[in-house]
Amino acid sequence: MILFGPPGAGKGTQAAILAEKTGLVHITTGELFREAIRKETELGRQAKPYYDRGDLVPDALTIGMLLERLAEEDAVHGCLLDGFPRTLEQATALDDALIGQGQAIDKVLCIQVPEDELLGRLAGRWTCRGCGDVYHRQSRWPKVEGRCDRCGGELYQRDDDQPEAVRRRLEVYSRQTAPLIDYYRGQGKLVEVDGYRSVDEVSGELQAALKEL
Ligand code: AP5
Repeated sequence: MILFGPPGAGKGTQAAILAEKTGLVHITTGELFREAIRKETELGRQAKPYYDRGDLVPDALTIGMLLERLAEEDAVHGCLLDGFPRTLEQATALDDALIGQGQAIDKVLCIQVPEDELLGRLAGRWTCRGCGDVYHRQSRWPKVEGRCDRCGGELYQRDDDQPEAVRRRLEVYSRQTAPLIDYYRGQGKLVEVDGYRSVDEVSGELQAALKEL
């Protein structure tokens, strides 16, 4: 299953809820890169300049990282992908790898949100350093100020949520990632969901789409 949409659409928020409901593991390439950057691995060192600018990390690095993660025990029977694929090359590499394992993408859940709303969501987002859970004063705020409800980790604001990087991420999404909507529509796998509603309303619609499977 793929959670698809522009930066700030609520992919991470919804994937976390769906993972809890379905038991599927939630795999997010953004979080894999943040972890690699935090741990200063070779992958993190190579990804950091692209990540900081709001550009896509090159396909060769991203595809290799994702396929390695998909091969881990908890993902072999299915998962919720968030933030991957983001280019046609990534989408075809994923299709090829799944075909090789006798598997396929079931659905692509595409969350649509107007750009003004995306800007407000990203500017006000706080992320947990421990588990990556996300908060926003207007939609979901922790019980203890500055601490994650789920794991107690410290909340921080991501470097790529600064205005210049956000502008760049939105441009990159329109140019390189949005064309995949037609790719998955052509495969009959696209489900479009209006994400400009409460977290619970969006989640209800996504769960209904999953029940059909
Ligand atoms: P990544 O971490 O994937 O960032 P993104 O796609 O830009 O998505 P976000 O995490 O910003 O948003 P989201 O849709 O998950 O929204 P969220 O739920 O947090 O990628 C970061 C970088 O890594 C990329 O720029 C790139 O450099 C690199 N990268 C990653 N994958 C890559 C790939 N495949 N190829 C190449 N490079 C890659 O919600 C946002 C806020 O809104 C939160 O505060 C939340 O509380 C709030 N909110 C959520 N839903 C609602 C709602 N319904 N109403 C009101 N507020 C809401």
